[in-house]
Amino acid sequence: MNALRKKISFHDFQPQVESFRQAVFDGLSRKRKQISPKFFYDESGSKLFEAILEQPEYYIPSIERELLQKHANEFAELIQPGAILIEPGSGSCEKVQLLLDSVIPAAYVPMDISGDFLQQSAYDLGEKFPWLPIYATCLDFTHKMVLPKGVPQGRRVVFIPGSSLGNFDPLDVQYFLAGIHRLIDKNGGLLVGIDRKKEHATLNAAYNDSAGITAQFNLNLLSRINNELDGNFNHAKFEHYAYYNDKLGRIEMHLVSLEDQEITIFGQAFSFTKDERIHTENSYKYSPDEFINLANAAGFKHRQIWSDDNDFFSIYFLEAY
Ligand code: AVI
Repeated sequence: MNALRKKISFHDFQPQVESFRQAVFDGLSRKRKQISPKFFYDESGSKLFEAILEQPEYYIPSIERELLQKHANEFAELIQPGAILIEPGSGSCEKVQLLLDSVIPAAYVPMDISGDFLQQSAYDLGEKFPWLPIYATCLDFTHKMVLPKGVPQGRRVVFIPGSSLGNFDPLDVQYFLAGIHRLIDKNGGLLVGIDRKKEHATLNAAYNDSAGITAQFNLNLLSRINNELDGNFNHAKFEHYAYYNDKLGRIEMHLVSLEDQEITIFGQAFSFTKDERIHTENSYKYSPDEFINLANAAGFKHRQIWSDDNDFFSIYFLEAY
């Protein structure tokens, strides 16, 4: 054991994991069939998502990494020394590593719904950054966000990379930002990456990569239903469909039935007509004005925005007032 190793603690708020079965039954019983994107991420779905991050058409990770590296010192100045850095949906804790050496927070609080994954990621991070006190917190950040006992006092700054807020509807973003505001209180900060509106061809290509990985990711939802819920979807009879809906400012992902068909899940039948879709994901794209308006409505003012040369993606530093 490294003598300099700071504490890594694990705090379990026992999040209720929404029933996949119930969500699928409810979603497929609707007039417009839908299943939430949160169900993409079983083991193969998570691997396919990692593969999406490597696709040349999916520009978000490379641009964000470059911005985080290039401006790390500016972020550090705004975040301020000794801050408590909180990351809802921290996953593998990869991106925060680009900030830690410049920011040097007094503590890092990764939050994730998956306890085992969280514990492993916190441990791996602790190996690389032994000076960092880590308070790994297992909760569903879309339902409640609290800091565990023992987290030191200090300016609280939330970090949300990857444009993950884009998968919420704008009203839910506002609700979520209001929750962050309550957590960090006045003078706390939020460093957040948000994908921007741009040429439709670029957006459409990002969600229709030529290697077909996003298509596999979307179709994997049917495999998950087959495996976990005794479903009998035939992949060959469904197609991935992703397009930019200009009116609503979002990429929409769907699974389209290629023929009239009936499938069963745990013995219950669901019928599809040819061309009928299951809506599986929205990914909203915001101009800076649109995102700042949302943030203002939740009690944040913006201090600074960084973008790449093409204005494809932006990182915002917001402060609660
Ligand atoms: C996780 N989220 C920000 C991704 C996005 O771009 O909306 C999910 C994704 N879906 C297809 N490709 C990537």
